[in-house]
Amino acid sequence: MIRLSDNVLMVNDMAGLVSRLRRRIPGFASVGVLTDRNVEETVIEQTGLLQKISSSAHMSVVKPGEASKSLTVVEQLSQEWLEAGMDRNSLIINIGGGVVSDLGGFAASIFKRGIRFINIPTTLLSMIDASVGGKTGVNLGGAKNQIGTFSRADEVIIWTGFLKWLPSRELKSGFAECLKHAFLQGGEALRLVNHGLPADPATLASLVEASVKFKDSVVNADLYEIGQRKILNFGHTVGHAFESASLLANAEPWLHGEAVAAGMLVALRLSVRVAGLSPDFAAKWEEFILNNFSIPKTCGMTSMSLMQFLRYDKKNVGNSLRFVLLKEPGMPLFDQEIAAESVREEVELVLSLLS
Ligand code: GLY
Repeated sequence: MIRLSDNVLMVNDMAGLVSRLRRRIPGFASVGVLTDRNVEETVIEQTGLLQKISSSAHMSVVKPGEASKSLTVVEQLSQEWLEAGMDRNSLIINIGGGVVSDLGGFAASIFKRGIRFINIPTTLLSMIDASVGGKTGVNLGGAKNQIGTFSRADEVIIWTGFLKWLPSRELKSGFAECLKHAFLQGGEALRLVNHGLPADPATLASLVEASVKFKDSVVNADLYEIGQRKILNFGHTVGHAFESASLLANAEPWLHGEAVAAGMLVALRLSVRVAGLSPDFAAKWEEFILNNFSIPKTCGMTSMSLMQFLRYDKKNVGNSLRFVLLKEPGMPLFDQEIAAESVREEVELVLSLLS
């Protein structure tokens, strides 16, 4: 077992995960496990994880997907937990991807004014991003993460062995956030991602370790995102617009990481345009993104339709949009104001690359 930060542990195998949970659980009066149906049917059933950690845990299973991140589901979960006799000395264990840790972390953070929870991420995206850093929340209407809390998990226990159950499309989606962390760190971190998503489990585990350590260092310095934590939104401003637009397009919705990869294409171009990033660096990584992420077809998206989604971004000032840009690899700048027309031009160019 390796300690990656004060609340994040990495275990080598299932036995390590079970042994860690068995050490933690006896301190609590009761335990609730939250997962989604996909994770229950694959990871949990095939590993027998639940029987190995607790025969008396109360199990809640939600539908996979963003639709479960709602206040209605939070109310249903709280009702279940009440009926199961859970109290302030109960523990919630969230086993799954970002939807499960966002939802379960939020519900735990408000149930009885807050009970403790442990995250066991089963996706790459959740291991290196969603389950680490204390952001919890649910969606409101069509808008993502509008209601939530900053509540750090008691512990995050990462076992990269879960990734063998993850479809390759989801792995690539998580890898986009690894690449984002590498741009923000520069140097050795970029060298680690240079060859694409590692096929070898040990190299992938090293990448997860480095990525989590970086995220944790940023979060520790600014948990509430007053300043420096904003850098973690690199690629996300336009990324969220791609993600929302894909829900309206006549095709499969894009995964978060696919949208972030497309958003980073725009952010790299804007970084060259206004922050002095080397055009050679941007061109090299643009090619890397186009070759490594299988970003879906843009299916009728236009620069104008994407700009509509950006118009309501909370970070806007007048006719300018606020971005995280790169001055150099490892040197991000946040709160950079850019004229909407410049953004539209770069979005247009990126759309032409993707179609
Ligand atoms: N995913 C960005 C953050 O945790 O701040």
